Amino acid sequence: MSARSLRDVAEDARSNAYAPYSRFHVGAALQSSTGNVYGGANVENASFGVGICAERSALVAAVTAGDREFSELVLVSDAADPAAPCGACRQALSEFAPGLRIVSHGLNGETAEWSLADLLPHQFKLDESNRFTE
Ligand code: THU
Repeated sequence: MSARSLRDVAEDARSNAYAPYSRFHVGAALQSSTGNVYGGANVENASFGVGICAERSALVAAVTAGDREFSELVLVSDAADPAAPCGACRQALSEFAPGLRIVSHGLNGETAEWSLADLLPHQFKLDESNRFTE
């Protein structure tokens, strides 16, 4: 899917964000290596810590549908500048795609692009014996 279409999916997801507490709406579009695209929005809760970010919403939808390999994540939010994913989402995404390409669009018209490997240089990772591994 083209970058424009991924952005459309992210924009649609943002329009469905449930953010009555922060009033900060985020939308994500996660593309699998096979070309499937999953939208995700942030979904907040009166018990604040229970809320989930847009990136992890998209990731959960993708894994639930059977996809585990990803090529790109597109993000949109209410921020003027392109927003980078939070630390928890970086770790969650790195489980499946440590080198994921991340593109973020700000309301100011600017676009930022990163590799997840640069945003999260020391991923927490366990080997088959549940031992920490570099
Ligand atoms: N949020 C995201 O959806 N993604 C991020 O990477 C950072 C923050 C959401 C969580 C919360 O609903 C709102 O933005 C304000 O933190």
